[in-house]
Amino acid sequence: MPTAFLTVIPPSSVVYAVTLGVMDIRAITPDEFRAYASVWERTFNFDGKDDELAAEAKVHELDRSIVAVDDGTFVGTGGSFSFELTVPGGVVPAAGLTAIAVLPTHRRRGVLTSMMRYHFEDVQNREEPVSLLRASESVIYGRFGYGVATYDSSWKIGRRDASFTVQGQIGEAVSLIDLDRAKKVLPEVYAGAAPATPGFLSRGKEIWDHALSDLESWRGGFTSNRFALFEEDGAALGYLRYRAKDTWEQGLPKNEILAAELIALTPQAEAALWRFVFSTDLVDEIRTQNRPTDELLDLLLAEPRRLVRRRTDGLWARLVDVPAALAARRYRVEGRLVIEVVDPFLPDHGGRFLLEGGPDGAVCRWTTDEPDLVVDPVALGACYLGGGSFALFRAAGRVKGETKAAQLADTMFSWHVQPWCPHYF
Ligand SMILES: CC(C)(COP(=O)(O)OP(=O)(O)OC[C@H]1O[C@@H](n2cnc3c(N)ncnc32)[C@H](O)[C@@H]1OP(=O)(O)O)[C@@H](O)C(=O)NCCC(=O)NCCS
Repeated sequence: MPTAFLTVIPPSSVVYAVTLGVMDIRAITPDEFRAYASVWERTFNFDGKDDELAAEAKVHELDRSIVAVDDGTFVGTGGSFSFELTVPGGVVPAAGLTAIAVLPTHRRRGVLTSMMRYHFEDVQNREEPVSLLRASESVIYGRFGYGVATYDSSWKIGRRDASFTVQGQIGEAVSLIDLDRAKKVLPEVYAGAAPATPGFLSRGKEIWDHALSDLESWRGGFTSNRFALFEEDGAALGYLRYRAKDTWEQGLPKNEILAAELIALTPQAEAALWRFVFSTDLVDEIRTQNRPTDELLDLLLAEPRRLVRRRTDGLWARLVDVPAALAARRYRVEGRLVIEVVDPFLPDHGGRFLLEGGPDGAVCRWTTDEPDLVVDPVALGACYLGGGSFALFRAAGRVKGETKAAQLADTMFSWHVQPWCPHYF
């Protein structure tokens, strides 16, 4: 977690007028965490166990928490993580919006809208050009200017349906490691992989402690975390965190493996870890939750159609400081574009911006020149990491400009790999 951002003072308590009256919006104090979490319990329909709440309290940045208080009662919550986001050719500080909830008794009266305004003030004060989130429902955040910047791909496959086009040796350079070793080596591999793929988020110690705390209630009937590590010449080049489920039907093994996170620094490491999973005896089915859309495994399998896949929205991005965000990344080809951003929720953050960028870097500044493209923050957020297409937004009537301007923007913004975010928050 970038400590530079932890010391910044959040916006002081702000009083917002919402349709039910005047509401105080502020950060919580540590002794208010239980009351804060009880809003999530009522909103997301679960009873938080003590160990879960303790784990959440440790990972949340309380100075970035948000609570909406109506006449002394907490009715809405939110918060942010201070991340560094990998963008094409660089990194940018980014706020990860989290814990958004409004009590069922107080919905559709503008509580979330007020909390979003508070959040964007905080993001601006901390000079983070980008706000990010993962959405519970895809209908909520477009109105606040967020676009889908990465996709999660989940798949399942019967183990016996999988034969590999390129064979390796069973057990090649893959070992099972214990939790203590995992705590040391997983963060190193993850940090090594982060610069290559736009959409990766920095994970500080608190986040790793949370991710590996492996509470019973998080296992969903599967085993505790298991860790497979691929090493070459003493260097850790890839890991798989997985769980298994022991199921038998009429004397036949129907065990499952849930491959929770596979991160590799080389294609050889990635292939070896998949071969390890697919060679595990008694396993009938292998599942994943969140894999990239451009998955190496497709090319390793003789019958990739056997992967039964679902694609869902992953990371949503919202540029809060457009010129800073656009200048922080690199572009695939040299180009010059004037982009006008029409921003209905934060009109002062819109305007016309001249972007001059290429593989070696970029500059972006305000301009009065005529725009090549007119976009809204949703389209810009969706295209920012190289995943979305300006031409497709234009075809849908959501970006204005000449075809060739949209094509140039797509060529400039695209990157060598599809953006992907393995992190949940
Ligand atoms: C999503 C949630 C936080 C919205 O809070 P809220 O205070 O009701 O939102 P607001 O009153 O500020 O709504 C602003 C607008 O968004 C719309 N909207 C907000 N949430 C919506 C939803 N889930 N479905 C459809 N429309 C929604 C409102 O209708 C309103 O539209 P309008 O401006 O045209 O009237 C609340 O419904 C909730 O707690 N849901 C369950 C938990 C959840 O999904 N949290 C998000 C986690 S990522």
